Amino acid sequence: MARTKIGIITGGGDAPGLNATIQAVVVGAKEKNWQTIGFKAGWAGPIKNDWEEVTIGRIKDIQRAGGTILGTSRTNPAKIPGGYKTIIKNCKKLGLSALVAIGGEDTLGVAQKLYQKGVKIVGIPKTIDNDVGETDYTFGFDTAVTRVSEALDRLVTTTQAHHRTVVIEIMGRQAGWIALYGGITGGAHVILIPEVPFKIKDICQVVLDRYKQGLTYALIACAEGAQDPGLAERVNREKEIVRKICKKQKLTKEVINRVVGKIEYDAFGHFHLGGIGDMIAKEINQSLAASISSYMPAGIKFEARSVRLGHLQRGGSPTPFDRMLGIRFGLKAVELISQKKFGQMAALRGEKIIGVPLKKALAKIKTVPPSFYKEMKYFWEKS
Ligand code: F6P
Repeated sequence: MARTKIGIITGGGDAPGLNATIQAVVVGAKEKNWQTIGFKAGWAGPIKNDWEEVTIGRIKDIQRAGGTILGTSRTNPAKIPGGYKTIIKNCKKLGLSALVAIGGEDTLGVAQKLYQKGVKIVGIPKTIDNDVGETDYTFGFDTAVTRVSEALDRLVTTTQAHHRTVVIEIMGRQAGWIALYGGITGGAHVILIPEVPFKIKDICQVVLDRYKQGLTYALIACAEGAQDPGLAERVNREKEIVRKICKKQKLTKEVINRVVGKIEYDAFGHFHLGGIGDMIAKEINQSLAASISSYMPAGIKFEARSVRLGHLQRGGSPTPFDRMLGIRFGLKAVELISQKKFGQMAALRGEKIIGVPLKKALAKIKTVPPSFYKEMKYFWEKS
């Protein structure tokens, strides 16, 4: 009888802990005498039939490595003609008994569609954003929070030395978990998250009050998806004016996009975020320049700056917590396959790793409850 063969794919933004997860799937499969293959570069792999055999030799010691040995991408099969059909055909051709999909809401969304189309699939939740439902944590989150917290530990000394205000822009499109946990543990004086809209004038007031009290520095932790609707509207209006002037001067579309900025989308329809930190720093500079100067040391000009942490948050080695979570998820995925519990996702509930229906996990993104944000706000305001 032919050996059971299972496939693994890692999709979406990489998250520290992916390799530990792959390692555990391979070890778990080996225990059952199953063969493991890994598709390359997310859903592009099963579409292009691009894969490698992942042996025990290949996964030696990879739990400590960041990234994913299989590579990843944001390939969306729905955007490729015949994408889903090709995946199903290639999985059949390879004789796969099951597929393990490791990813966030987009990758797992594809997994759920494949399951509905008859593919024997199980999911593993991965994202630094920690926004997948039905699991207490996703792996990658703890590492990202550690990076943000450490970045604030470093930023605070230089910020304080120069009497500056620094806005640190943190990943988190729809969920502010990283900004909140990283900001609290790193001692930010203001934390802004997508779930709770802010008003720039309130932020300016907090900064001014600190300087008035002789605390001549401030750190603002801001998730990339945080929004002041009024500010966004004003900036868009200003951009429209610049666009019109550029058009009048008969500048090409390419030049106009370069001047005003073009919105880029990924294959799942999410636009590339980034820039809110710059925007906030600019607003603080403009509105406080005059009023704050008398609270600054003699002869020193007030300055607000921004730092975008970007991919530094998800690059490099995973924390022990993320390695452990990835390993436990990987072993659970093999167990779910052996129990024929397809359409399920490994999830952390308290101390336990359980299986939950993918459909349930994907029903709603897990965002920060405003009541929890309020509770934490009290802490950073009073401390
Ligand atoms: O994986 C989720 C995420 O970390 C988001 O917080 C962020 O918006 C996105 O990835 C950015 O990823 P990339 O730059 O790879 O598109």
